[in-house]
Order: sequence, then C-alpha cells, then structure tokens
Amino acid sequence: MKFTKCSGLKGEVTIPGDKSVSHRSVMFGSIAKGTTEIHNFLQGADCLSTISCFRSMGVAIENNGDTVIVHGNGLHGLEKPDTTLDCGNSGTTTRLISGILAAQDFSVTLTGDASIRKRPMKRIMTPLSMMGADIRSLHDNGCAPLVITGKKLHGIHYQSPVASAQVKSAILLAGLYADGETKVTEPYVSRNHSELMLSCFGADVRTEDTTAVIQPAEELFGQKVLVPGDISSAAFFIAAGLIIPNSEILIHNVGINPTRDGIIHVCRAMGADIELLNQKHDGEPTADILVRSSRLKGTVIGGAIIPTLIDELPMIAAMACFAEGETVIRDAAELKVKESNRIAVMVENLTAMGADVEETEDGMIIRGGRPLHSAVIDSKLDHRIAMTFAVTGCCADGETEIVGAECVNISYPGFYGDLERLMTK
Ligand code: S3P
Repeated sequence: MKFTKCSGLKGEVTIPGDKSVSHRSVMFGSIAKGTTEIHNFLQGADCLSTISCFRSMGVAIENNGDTVIVHGNGLHGLEKPDTTLDCGNSGTTTRLISGILAAQDFSVTLTGDASIRKRPMKRIMTPLSMMGADIRSLHDNGCAPLVITGKKLHGIHYQSPVASAQVKSAILLAGLYADGETKVTEPYVSRNHSELMLSCFGADVRTEDTTAVIQPAEELFGQKVLVPGDISSAAFFIAAGLIIPNSEILIHNVGINPTRDGIIHVCRAMGADIELLNQKHDGEPTADILVRSSRLKGTVIGGAIIPTLIDELPMIAAMACFAEGETVIRDAAELKVKESNRIAVMVENLTAMGADVEETEDGMIIRGGRPLHSAVIDSKLDHRIAMTFAVTGCCADGETEIVGAECVNISYPGFYGDLERLMTK
C-alpha cells in the first residue's frame, strides 16, 4: 500500500463499531441468560476471534454483518471446547476470556498468533491465581499458550500495578463467580466499558475513584447493545483532518466515554479546530466530531490521561511532528507491550521519515516542524502503526510504502477505502 501527499480531505465518514465494546457484548451475552442483540458490531478480525472462541464453547451466535445475536448459555452453561481456543491477535480476547475460564468446570488451552504469544499474561495470571485460579503458561514464560482449569474462586482486593482495562475486566469477570466481593484498584482509571455493560446485564458493580467493585452474580440477563463508533479508529481521521491542509471532516457517531476521550483533550491543548456535535447518551456517550486543518502547537501528555488515549498515542506522536515546538509523551511504558513495541516502532519509522523524535524510558519527545519525506514503513503487522503511517504518508514528500498494510483488518477493515473517499481530487 502506497501513499503520497494529499491536497485535502473533505466530507463525512462513519467509523466502525468500538472494538472494546464489541468484544464485551459477545462475551457478556454468551454468559448471560437469554438473547443479546448487538448493533454496529465491529467485524474486525479481533472481535471475530471472540465470536469463534464462544462458539467453540457451545454458544449459538448469529453474525448477520451489522447485527450479531448471541443466544446466551447463562453463567454456568459454557461447554468444554474440543480444541485449543485461538484468540488470534487479540489481547482483549485472551485476557478477558481468562477471567471467565478460571471459574468453569473444565480445563482449556488458549493461544493466539506470534504477537499474542509474546505479550505479557502474568498481569492476569497473578491476580487470578490469588483468587484461586489454576492458570499456567505452557512454556513457563508468562505468555500464551495458557492452560486454565476452572476452580472455585475467592473475592480479593487487587492493587493493580498497571492501569489496564484488560486486567481489571479479567478480575471483574472472575469476580462474578467468586464467593465474595472482588475489588480492583488501579493507579489511574482505565476504560470502564466492562463496568457499564456488566451493570446493564444485571451485575452489581460500582466504582469508587480508581477502584471497581463487583459482587458475585446469580445470573446475567441478555440485553440490546448499541455499539458506538470507535474513537481509537476515529483518531486517524481526527489527526488527518487536522494535519492535512485544506481539510474538513465530519466523523459520525463516535464514542466519547470520558475514559476514552483523551485525544480530544490533547487536540484542544494543541490548538486544534475540533468540535463535538449532536451529543447523545445511549448506554455509552457519543458525538459527531468535526475537525478542520489547524496550526498545532506542542504539548505535554502524561499521568492520568494516558489510559484514556493509550491506543491513540502512535497517531498523536505522528501528529506532533506537524506541530510547532516540542511534544512530550511520558508515563506511557505500556506502549511497549501492545501489538508491537509502539515506542520503538514509532521512533524508528518517524526517524526514517525525517522527524526529530527521541525515545525515552516511558514515551518519546517529538520536536515538530521538520518536513517529513517518504520511507518504507514496516508496520510490524500492528494495525495502529499501519493506519498511523497511511495518514502520515499523506503529509510527506514522495511515496510512502506500508509493508503489512492488510493488518488494519484487525480493527478497521474498510480503513483505506474510507481514507481514499475523503481525498479531494
Ligand atoms: C482494551 C484495553 C487496552 C487497549 C486495548 C483494548 C480493552 O489495553 O490498549 O486495545 O478492550 O480492554 P490494556 O488493558 O492492556 O491497557
């Protein structure tokens, strides 16, 4: 896939459904009683991995494209799968499903692709083991394949060393099956989709500052879920609209949950022309986002805002190359354990395009204002890296080539088509 300098992006785009919300709707629907009807489900490879795992455990799931219907088996109705569960590239599938599997009356092996088999799983193995789970890393390296044998679980109060919604959600899901209250305290609040959706499904879950608390459940009940557009996918069009001259883009129906909306705050701090229109609240808050080309200035991004924009940081880092002055990203060491080491990969690729960017322990420092030129970009099969450099390639001299470009199928299968449609000819 190749990209050249673009003279402007104009028009409207509707972003596919939120990945985090789509995963959860299938998982919670599978362990609920009754039917869960999911609208605007993300048909990305990651969410399809979740569907396939639950189908293997005897859950009937109809996938009609935009709408997915889950015929739930109830909290105790999952069946032992015949084979190893394949989570593909999806960290969310692997970690959240582990919380559920820890309490079943069977044993199962979970694995995934080469990237998933390198990602840290100790972060869920430790708290789940504290709850009484039998969860082992097959090669004893803290990574998948994981072998999980269901056990009786106990409630715990876990002080998580990382702000991670995947860790928090795995513990909360195990907490549904525990013999008492389960609490998770995080250094900063991570995305709260599990808490919001579990509550709609009938669980007793509440939040106190940075602590989520759940009570054991008798049963969950199937719901209708409207999945908002994914702000992490919208991020590429937000950035593109701001940094490509002569652009004006209206991005429809984007989820703006306050635990996810950090990119909007950062854009405003950078001086962006960005407006939220048509705000609604239907389970999750949504808005249409209007962006216009802007003169940006550098900013400092760190602390509590980091979990609210963690997946957007690659695009924000590239956007900072087009801002005046210095942008500092700190407290973002979690980037190193995503689908790729996103600090190293961003620094390497932005440097190859002529940017002034420095790697730090927990982030990067970008000195904006240098014109960028084309390069061959190795996406490392990381979907967010591929999309970041498609947008960056539209602002650089020459022809930028993205290797492994098809990995966008993980979270946004129609991305290149949507980007091309907005290009003014
Ligand atoms: C996710 C949580 C985040 C995020 C990931 C999706 C989720 O990961 O990066 O893309 O759906 O819970 P961490 O929980 O590891 O921070």
